[in-house]
Amino acid sequence: MQKDELDSFLDELMSIDDYLQNRKNKKRILLEGTYSGKIELVKNEINHILSILYKQEMKFEEDELEIVEYYTKKLKYKNTELYSRQTELEAAHSQLKAYTEEIERINCELNRRVKELRNLFYFSQDVTSNFDKNELLKKALEDIIPFVNSSFGAVFVSQKEGLELVDTYYKDSEIYSIFHPILEKYLKNGYLDYDISLEATQIYSHIRKYPNVPQSICDQLTDKLKAGAIIPVFNKKKEVNAVIVLLGEYFDGSEKYLFNCYANVLGIALENAKLYNDKHQMFFDTVKVLANAIEVKDTYTKGHVDRVTKYSTAIAKKLNFDKNRLEKVRIAAVLHDIGKIGIPDEILNKPARLTEDEFNIIKLHPLKGYEIIKDIPALKDISIHVKQHHERIDGKGYPEGLKANQISLEAKIISVADAFDAMTSDRPYRKGMNIDKAINILVNNRGSQFDEYVVDTFLNYFQENDNIIKENE
Ligand SMILES: [Fe+2]
Repeated sequence: MQKDELDSFLDELMSIDDYLQNRKNKKRILLEGTYSGKIELVKNEINHILSILYKQEMKFEEDELEIVEYYTKKLKYKNTELYSRQTELEAAHSQLKAYTEEIERINCELNRRVKELRNLFYFSQDVTSNFDKNELLKKALEDIIPFVNSSFGAVFVSQKEGLELVDTYYKDSEIYSIFHPILEKYLKNGYLDYDISLEATQIYSHIRKYPNVPQSICDQLTDKLKAGAIIPVFNKKKEVNAVIVLLGEYFDGSEKYLFNCYANVLGIALENAKLYNDKHQMFFDTVKVLANAIEVKDTYTKGHVDRVTKYSTAIAKKLNFDKNRLEKVRIAAVLHDIGKIGIPDEILNKPARLTEDEFNIIKLHPLKGYEIIKDIPALKDISIHVKQHHERIDGKGYPEGLKANQISLEAKIISVADAFDAMTSDRPYRKGMNIDKAINILVNNRGSQFDEYVVDTFLNYFQENDNIIKENE
């Protein structure tokens, strides 16, 4: 190789070196990670030239040998420098790769936290509008499971008798086949028959390591069930209100924080639900006291209100009324004859058939009932059903002679329940009618006195619940 060729080659090497240096400064090279190959090419090229130079050494003249030696040294130096730079670059690349991985991990963790907080927020919103204790507990279990990738979950409510099972979750059929028999073994009449610590949230990263866990359980725990968590939910008095038990592959401190957040929100929601239900029960008890006043006055209809309430709510349930509407039917049924308070005792308790005038006075009771409760805000909606419970589909009812769609569905339901009980109950002047005969009357008056759909629904309920016939007989 001629001197000018070597100079040119070295210039080229220098320019590559400069390029690498610039790229290194910009650090982009570290991310792209493509220069190891190029440096390898350059090294190979240098080694190739050196080998040619060494092979040709003997053929060189003295002055040429000096030049060769000079360039050989220079090339060797460059080669070493390139090796060193490559090592530096590789080290920096590894370090940056580690930083990138760490940033990705932190980003993942942050995303998980945001997701957890968002879910906790939605859970808080959902539970503030729900006052059913069991539904709240089911919702909590359903919400926690996906975040901790749990394989098994169970939620218990604290009762006087102990911890009563409310709901369970099994990730798949395999988990069910393993853990369902274990759970059944430790349940007695639906209550947990096993001592667990309930002072605070407990995390067990390896259940098998805990001496108080029976060997029979440990033997069956697969990797999917090796970690456990017990999450007690407390009320304001720091008493245990409910407990959530989870099993999964892995739980740690971060899950403990999440579990405690859920337990706190759930604890508040359960307190609110209790307050709401206590208040609601107090209201219903007051309504019941009012209704009982009728039974005291009208001694021949004892038990009538309870039976009409029972039949009416059963029909409404079969018609898929929501909770709120169902409760209104229940209260309307309890209060349907409240207007009888305003009917003289001698007419109400007359041990014989009523005269036309007397019957006209009795017929005022739906209107009187309406007047009594219509101005009570919580009973305003219900007062309409009380007023309409003696209306007929064909318009021949009282007090307003309303027809079909003018009558509320609730009033149509109470009408069927009331008529059936009135027909089948004993009165001082007659014996209660035979059940089949009463049913025939309901069927024969479908579409005239009674709503067809409500009669059919009542008969379906009747067929499915033979016991109510026996109770009436
Ligand atoms: Fe009535």
